[in-house]
Amino acid sequence: MEEEEWPHFVGFVPTLLMEVAPKPENTIAVTCGPPIMIKFVLENLEKLGFAPEQIYTTLENRMKCGIGKCGRCNVGNMYVCKDGPVFSYAMLKTIPEAFA
Ligand code: FES
Repeated sequence: MEEEEWPHFVGFVPTLLMEVAPKPENTIAVTCGPPIMIKFVLENLEKLGFAPEQIYTTLENRMKCGIGKCGRCNVGNMYVCKDGPVFSYAMLKTIPEAFA
């Protein structure tokens, strides 16, 4: 529940994104947060007309070694700890396991 005098948005981020509806022209979108939120934010950014090349996100995979040796954080042939954790959505779309 939001505070009475709180002037900012409160709620489910993917839904708020559609209310704010930023225009994709000359814009880069960057998101991070829980994987389920990221999944729906990415879908909604595409609905708003953003190209995958205009969208960047973190992946929040569990890590162990943090240096690309244990394979705990892999997504396809990439390691979130070493190759990320920030990826373009265009790159992630080439990796079927990214949002499995
Ligand atoms: S955490 Fe070990 S490879 Fe990424």
